[in-house]
Amino acid sequence: MAEIGKDIQLAADLLKSGQLIGMPTETVYGLAGNATNEQAILEIFKVKNRPKFDPLIAHTNSLEKIEQFVQSIPPKALQLANTFWPGPLTLLLDKQPHVPDLLTSGLNRVAVRIPSHPLTLQLLEQLDFPLAAPSANPFGYVSPTKASHVNDQLGHSIPYILDGGECKIGLESTIVGFEDDQPVVYRLGGLSIEAVENVIGPVTVQLNQSSNPAAPGMLKSHYAPKKRVLIGDLKSLLIDNKDHHIGVIAFREKLDNFASDNQIVLSPKGDLDEAASGLFAALRQLDQANVEIIITEKFPDKGLGKAINDRLKRAAAR
Ligand code: TXA
Ligand code: MG
Repeated sequence: MAEIGKDIQLAADLLKSGQLIGMPTETVYGLAGNATNEQAILEIFKVKNRPKFDPLIAHTNSLEKIEQFVQSIPPKALQLANTFWPGPLTLLLDKQPHVPDLLTSGLNRVAVRIPSHPLTLQLLEQLDFPLAAPSANPFGYVSPTKASHVNDQLGHSIPYILDGGECKIGLESTIVGFEDDQPVVYRLGGLSIEAVENVIGPVTVQLNQSSNPAAPGMLKSHYAPKKRVLIGDLKSLLIDNKDHHIGVIAFREKLDNFASDNQIVLSPKGDLDEAASGLFAALRQLDQANVEIIITEKFPDKGLGKAINDRLKRAAAR
């Protein structure tokens, strides 16, 4: 298994020598490698068992560094960057020719982000290259929100996981790009649509589901545990599936006629941010429990509730 610790110097040395590490961010843990090193990028695809048509996000700690690998930062992108970076926003910007095609799967745009986790910002400050970092899970599975999640699934293939504790946001970054200067959201995530629209006005949401999508995190089945996930009215789902071992993920209230440890309430006070931060850990926990079916409900369709519903829908898709 990987060593887990807080040694930024060790993490930097491993990355400089072309190796991969587990890296905390405020959204989810990443599987990080030098984004300018094709061998390191290839290793990321291999470790995750990820198809090469699914491009990676480049992480850095400053706009100055980002300017070195994009053509330009359009005004609305700059407004978003100035407002939300460091934070759970990824921008798709036209890439400079020297950015490896392997990183962008041959697309003209490169995905860039400045994450806000303090350990990772310190690490990025020490590096003169950006870090390619997809979520640190096998392709298609639920993203990790703790170092132990990374170790459970990828620990045998990487030497080190930088331990930043539990991810505060718990959902991947929101991806925004521009088509003819019009802002398009390609992935709902840890930054709400409302927050984006407050800064740049109305956006189009385009959650692709084809087999070769603009953002393959938008594949119909993704972020999925191995157990079946059903979404609906919890009481009826419980009755309909009474012959099975059931796990429950509820928003605010426990099902009172269901006595089991396999029932997780994400936010008794009804806070969608709190619910988002616990969602992936809950899916993992029930996936490992003595449960055949995970039942859950539709969350309020606002704030991070939209991204929660998106992830649950993909977790439920077969
Ligand atoms: O919060 C996050 O974004 C986390 C942390 C580690 O930063 N990273 C993450 O990476 O979720 P990943 O690889 O699991 O998801 C990145 C998504 C993919 O769905 C990919 O298709 C999309 O970003 N993407 C990356 N580059 C793209 C590009 N040039 N054009 C369109 N989509 C792109
Ligand atoms: Mg991912």
